[in-house]
Amino acid sequence: MSSPVLEVVALRKIFGGVRALDGIDLDVREGEILGIVGPNGAGKTALINTITGFYRASEGMIRFLGRDITAEPLHSIGRLGIARTFQNIRLFRRMTVLENVMVANKHYAARPLSAYFAWGQRSAAIAEAMDFIELMGLADKADHRAGSLPYGEARRLEIARALAGKPSLLLLDEPAAGMNETETGRLVEDIQTARPRVKAIALIEHDMSLIRALSDRIVAMDYGRKIAEGTPDEVLSHPDVKKAYLGEDA
Ligand SMILES: Nc1ncnc2c1ncn2[C@@H]1O[C@H](COP(=O)(O)OP(=O)(O)O)[C@@H](O)[C@H]1O
Ligand SMILES: [Mg+2]
Repeated sequence: MSSPVLEVVALRKIFGGVRALDGIDLDVREGEILGIVGPNGAGKTALINTITGFYRASEGMIRFLGRDITAEPLHSIGRLGIARTFQNIRLFRRMTVLENVMVANKHYAARPLSAYFAWGQRSAAIAEAMDFIELMGLADKADHRAGSLPYGEARRLEIARALAGKPSLLLLDEPAAGMNETETGRLVEDIQTARPRVKAIALIEHDMSLIRALSDRIVAMDYGRKIAEGTPDEVLSHPDVKKAYLGEDA
């Protein structure tokens, strides 16, 4: 078994009376795509928000590459090597595709403005950003405003920006939400393209075709708890998982 990139131990996040996370244990291992499924309100986004320091854990521990990051604030999580995308795409809509990716570059973003605008620095930063833009198939849109992109391309830009921070762990929160079938098919390829650029990926998704196509392992959640874990076949045919989704349809 490969070593864990991320370890979540007995994690709890309580909001007033709501147990968004009610004692979650899971690992994301090196080289894998871990699928995370569960009905609306199961706590999937709360899990990402707590891992990334957007929420503070009520109890439990989060370890990343062997280091305890439970109390790390949001701004240091990115520097440590965890990047995410959002269930509702977040981009700088009035900035270009290229600018959106350049702001994610930790190395250049940390420099004083004068160094940043020096020609050599700037052209190196552009070349690096263009590498990620090309990877996500957006090279011909580099000078378009992010706000003008169709949904599928906006999602790809968000992934390019996440990769540009050179993370070890990529967390994708329902990347196929709102996509049509063609866009979802393309997204499967894009995530496969992104995969070798990081140590591991955690993929939250409702779209079972995407989950099946990409996940090495799946964890299923409901009411802030882990209700099943295993291969895609094991988890997706698990009676508790079926019941959780049926409850949502009812
Ligand atoms: N900031 C918050 N304040 C209060 N309750 C929250 C907050 N964030 C999430 N929750 C609650 O936690 C539960 C899990 O939500 P969420 O993680 O968004 O679910 P999922 O992403 O699986 O659909 C829900 O009951 C939700 O209302
Ligand atoms: Mg969510």
